[in-house]
Amino acid sequence: MALDRFGRNIHYLRISLTDHCNLRCIYCMPEDQTFRPNASLLQDGEILLLARLFASLGFDKIRLTGGEPTVRANIVEIVRGIASTPGIRSLSMTTNGVMLKRLAQPLKDAGLQRVNVSIDTLDPEKFRRLTRWGKIDDVWNGILAAEEVGLVPVKLNAVVVKGYNEDDVIDLAALTIDRPWQMRYIEMMPFAGVTDIQTQQIVTASQIQQKIESEFGPLEATGKYDGEARIFRIHGGKGELGFISSVTVPFCSACTRARLTADGVLRMCLLREKEIDLLTPLRAGATLEDLRALILEAVWNKPWGHGLDEGVIPLNRAMNQIGG
Ligand code: 5AD
Ligand code: SF4
Repeated sequence: MALDRFGRNIHYLRISLTDHCNLRCIYCMPEDQTFRPNASLLQDGEILLLARLFASLGFDKIRLTGGEPTVRANIVEIVRGIASTPGIRSLSMTTNGVMLKRLAQPLKDAGLQRVNVSIDTLDPEKFRRLTRWGKIDDVWNGILAAEEVGLVPVKLNAVVVKGYNEDDVIDLAALTIDRPWQMRYIEMMPFAGVTDIQTQQIVTASQIQQKIESEFGPLEATGKYDGEARIFRIHGGKGELGFISSVTVPFCSACTRARLTADGVLRMCLLREKEIDLLTPLRAGATLEDLRALILEAVWNKPWGHGLDEGVIPLNRAMNQIGG
């Protein structure tokens, strides 16, 4: 078991497979974002080696992120390798859904258990504006494919941006009336690249909830948390609504996460710049014991609390270079 100095059991690893993406969401990266050359990213064998190493330290839950994980070459093989790693009990992916129509079945067959799909609006024109060129139909078909092959429960993520989609939270919530889906609303967080939008156009979780309640009446609090999401229901609805208030109400006491970026550094807090390089020592011939010691030390020193209230914004990476 990997414990930090606050007694938190850190057992959930988010692995970013690439910083590349086939969309350019305005809250994630600038339009002219440049991406890392493939040689500087973890190679397939390095990912599997690190997954085994983390599993040997008690990590039992892995989520694959990006950029967009499905644009990574060999994605199905990578999933197969991680799924068959001893000790990994939960394997999921956060994706924009664009490639899911084709990939849902092979990913499921390879051992992927669930997906979270990002969908910020159901309106085709607003979707294009938010993603700079995405087609909502691709995402919708991807979500249906995921459900059909059993990558369930389907969970959807929406980042809410003032002036773009703050009214669309209602139509998204309505999806949960007759579908057993979980619709999650995420407060926009600030990073490098598009910090102005992220700080000036944030809509808070409580504002989002109020907007939804103005349409459907008071939401039923379930008292449940799913990861960092506080879970509610529309009265009589089959699905759930989740609110992720990372900015206004951080959930640090319940955080069990570590993040491995696509270029092989360990980031122990999404909103703190501190990073521990694993790829350089790995390529320089470090032993598994050396790497284990580096990971355990990083876990022990995992930060608590972001500094956004004091104006401390993490600026060393854009969101797609961390993995969300
Ligand atoms: N703040 C919060 N969430 C973000 N995401 C991307 N950028 C941000 C941001 N600035 C979300 C995506 C996706 C997940 C990987 O992170 O919408 O759901
Ligand atoms: Fe791509 Fe996801 Fe960033 Fe949108 S939020 S640009 S889909 S990585």
